Amino acid sequence: MTAQAPEWKRQAYSIAAMRVMARTTLPRPVFDFADGGAEDELTLRRNEKAFAAVELLPRPLNGTSERDLSITLFGKRLSLPVLIGPTGLAGLFWPDGERCAARAASASGTAYCLSHGSVCTIEQLAECGAAPRWMQVFIYKDRGFTRELAERAAKAGYDALVLTVDNQLTGNRERDIRNGFSIPPQFGLAGLAGMALKAEWLWRMRREIGRITFGNYVRPGEASNIKMVAGRMAAMLDPSMSWADVDELRKIWRGPLLLKGILHRAEAKNAVERGIDGLIVSNHGGRQLDGAPASIAVLPSIVEAVAGRVPVLLDGGVRRGGDVVKALALGAQAWLVARPQLWGLAIAGEAGVAHMLELYRQEMSRVMGLCGIARVADIGKDLVFSHPKYGRQP
Ligand SMILES: Cc1cc2nc3c(=O)[nH]c(=O)nc-3n(C[C@H](O)[C@H](O)[C@H](O)COP(=O)(O)O)c2cc1C
Repeated sequence: MTAQAPEWKRQAYSIAAMRVMARTTLPRPVFDFADGGAEDELTLRRNEKAFAAVELLPRPLNGTSERDLSITLFGKRLSLPVLIGPTGLAGLFWPDGERCAARAASASGTAYCLSHGSVCTIEQLAECGAAPRWMQVFIYKDRGFTRELAERAAKAGYDALVLTVDNQLTGNRERDIRNGFSIPPQFGLAGLAGMALKAEWLWRMRREIGRITFGNYVRPGEASNIKMVAGRMAAMLDPSMSWADVDELRKIWRGPLLLKGILHRAEAKNAVERGIDGLIVSNHGGRQLDGAPASIAVLPSIVEAVAGRVPVLLDGGVRRGGDVVKALALGAQAWLVARPQLWGLAIAGEAGVAHMLELYRQEMSRVMGLCGIARVADIGKDLVFSHPKYGRQP
């Protein structure tokens, strides 16, 4: 970081530091909505901790002065293997949050995945021109609505569709209960008291707060009141979703189709056999099934099951560029970050998200350099030190 960098950038020297800054800026219920996980938050913590068990074995005598972090994913060149994953209500963290984050991703040369539960609509995001852009959907009781979202995304020029499979029932997020925060955002007494101390956020959001809604669910001619829309949305999800629905979506969506929320190797194998183009190994950041394993821990078995037939992506708890290198060494093609983009938004909007991506880029580049690796393609299994769970030294 240069001496001329603005003060916030100097304070935001790591993703962990950005989280602390976001906690200072955001009302407690909003911060906890993003930061928290389900029940005892075992899986949430496991995601981050699991990286500590993966050790990197450097070969500095390979000597590299330049590093190339770029990858090609579904035919598109990305400048680094870090994408922005879907997070509902990003517009609660900064006005027009989704478009700010998508523009930052695009300018940084990477992809942005819009959440089903975004404040702005599929079409509004597309209007900002950010690319590549992906769209995330669920399976609804009314299968026609899943089809409608997919068709809208195709029409608006989205490059890939992500079907999230681990959220057909909403996880039990106890911080939200404690804070009186719910979807729609409602703040209990303690929450309101906490908000009063967050003048900067309140001032910034003063025009937005009344307009926050789940944009994609608003029907023409119907009130966009978030309470109504959110009630309808929660009731729409269908826990009886099955492989037949995946097959149906496969018929509707012609471009790259990914499943997000895969942890079991049998499901990974089945998905590939049914023509899915990519997998996102994920436990939803510990927000759904508390007790699920860390995504990095199951990665090797998924990679083995898929056997190179489709790209394997990953999310959950990556807070360092070095963690991305570890995931790639264990066979992933790319990583999606979720909470860190919200910290970026909370701190400085579009510039904050751009800064967050730059941190991953710099850290990854430094770790690759220290390991004697010049290109992403050269990151292999032999970079991981022998470990009973994660790999073996050649
Ligand atoms: C506030 C918030 C909202 C999220 N909304 C969605 C969503 O709408 N769809 C989805 O598939 N995943 C959603 N996720 C899960 C993330 O995409 C991701 O799987 C998870 O947060 C793990 O990444 P992280 O550890 O980098 O946050 C959300 C996560 C957070 C924190």
